[in-house]
Amino acid sequence: MRTSILQLLRENQNEFLSGEWLSSQLGCSRTAVWKHIQTLLDRGYEIEAVRNKGYRLKVFSDAFIEDAVIGQIRAVWPDAAVEFYSSASSTQTLAHRLLETNTAERGIVIADEQTNGKGRLGRSFSSQKGEGIWVSIVMRPNIPVHQMPQLTLVTATAVCKAVREQTGIELTIKWPNDLLLNGKKCCGILTEVQSDPDQVKSMIVGIGLNVNNNDFPEWLFDKATSLSMETGERFDRLQLLAALIYSMETMFSLYEEKGFSVIKPIWEASAESPGANIRARTRERVYEGINRGIDDDGVLLIEKENGEIERLLSADIEK
Ligand code: BTN
Repeated sequence: MRTSILQLLRENQNEFLSGEWLSSQLGCSRTAVWKHIQTLLDRGYEIEAVRNKGYRLKVFSDAFIEDAVIGQIRAVWPDAAVEFYSSASSTQTLAHRLLETNTAERGIVIADEQTNGKGRLGRSFSSQKGEGIWVSIVMRPNIPVHQMPQLTLVTATAVCKAVREQTGIELTIKWPNDLLLNGKKCCGILTEVQSDPDQVKSMIVGIGLNVNNNDFPEWLFDKATSLSMETGERFDRLQLLAALIYSMETMFSLYEEKGFSVIKPIWEASAESPGANIRARTRERVYEGINRGIDDDGVLLIEKENGEIERLLSADIEK
């Protein structure tokens, strides 16, 4: 109920909504509305209450306050297992715990700040308070194990679509897991899969999207950017979050129903164009050659100097 009141206030940001109207919309008494408004005030929302006019949200806020975040998630996934933290060590670690204790089809752990955000290959991921979307999503895609590399690519297309639809910004995909804006990293994806020998059982996909950051630690300065730094605008993280979850749901439904062949052209439309010389580092060695794009499994093809094609399931692209 409180979440619905907040949602109505956010949707009608500049208008007063009367207690009577709110109570009729939500099927509760005016006293109940008043009590929920008091709770929202206690939780830090600036709500103006004027006699004979009603209630209005005073300042535009994309603050990640629990009710607002959960409201956005529930609008898309009413039955998901949801955990919200104003500060967490890493949502990815917490999502592993959620997966162990909860059998819901969808799960989501989200934090306004991570103090020990994790990237691929044991790297850390900078996740400052109030600036981005730091989220780990649990899903149970029904696919055979050999299709595992596709999961990051499907996620990347879903994030690009959500960002495009909410902000008009076109991110580009750097295979396999980075999303770039003007050549700098704006979003990272960390995919972890639980499987038996043949079949994927579940996945935890961590998404770190830099939204309103206007600064980064020095070691990231040349490499990282945010939607805000490149455009000079601030974006509503709550709306972006809802768009992201909706896009994950629709993209993964499409993928499970029709297969990767339908996702591949959508991925290619956002991906860095093939044809450039690249250097790819795997755990074992470094490969140099021409980027020949991905095959039908989502595997990266590199044409070596001798003309042979190397197929890479996962790697770090250095140039
Ligand atoms: C990478 O670029 O190497 C992947 C970065 C993934 C970051 C996200 S933020 C939410 C989730 N929690 C984490 O600790 N990491 C992922």
